[in-house]
Amino acid sequence: MHVANESVATRGRFTIALSGGSTPKALYNLLATNARTILPWDRMYFFWSDERHVPPTDPESNYRMADEAMLSKVPVPAGNIYRMPAENPDAAATAEAYETSLRKFFQTKAGEFPKFDLILLGLGPDGHTASLFPGTAGLKEKSRLVIANPVEKLKTDRLSFTYPLINAARCVAFLVSGMDKATVLRSVLQENVPGEQYPAKLVQPIDGRLVWFLDRAAASELSQPK
Ligand code: 6PG
Repeated sequence: MHVANESVATRGRFTIALSGGSTPKALYNLLATNARTILPWDRMYFFWSDERHVPPTDPESNYRMADEAMLSKVPVPAGNIYRMPAENPDAAATAEAYETSLRKFFQTKAGEFPKFDLILLGLGPDGHTASLFPGTAGLKEKSRLVIANPVEKLKTDRLSFTYPLINAARCVAFLVSGMDKATVLRSVLQENVPGEQYPAKLVQPIDGRLVWFLDRAAASELSQPK
């Protein structure tokens, strides 16, 4: 809440990229209930850091999840919500269209990366974050903002922010909960594992802040500082 109000005070708006997953969903529910009257909703602009390649009405849609859990319940103007047009059967065209709307919104030139005030991310049990999965081609992207990333094990393309876009943000926050994340979280935070196999490890904001929100179960295998 502090970052939202601070961004509005200094830049007149707060730009946030939401993620999918069960942990963010709990946060969205909470914000819709507890922060309905506290947050500067009319100055908040919502984007998605990743999306499934499905229409917005699909139960798998990250947009739909955020809409049902939070956006439909708070006073945010419809024009402040920028979802990925993932109903387009051409995944590459969807990614390109979203990149174009990001460039237009942030008014960045080719070669520059927009600076989100906050990008929310989850952590998958396999170490993926956004839709950057282990061993996928998308991990190597250096110039695009948004990509269609083929994920063989899911037999689908996923739409995702790229590392250069994520790492340009003013703040990146991971939300991680549950026992099934304990081992992977230890690897990502405390072991010398390769980033190609643990994509969350390559999230390293250039001059922004990196924050990890963990519950006790997810943090249960971390070693304590001595
Ligand atoms: C998605 C996500 C993905 C998610 C992690 C963690 O579209 O699935 O954006 O990166 O955040 O898989 O998900 P959970 O919080 O459900 O474990």
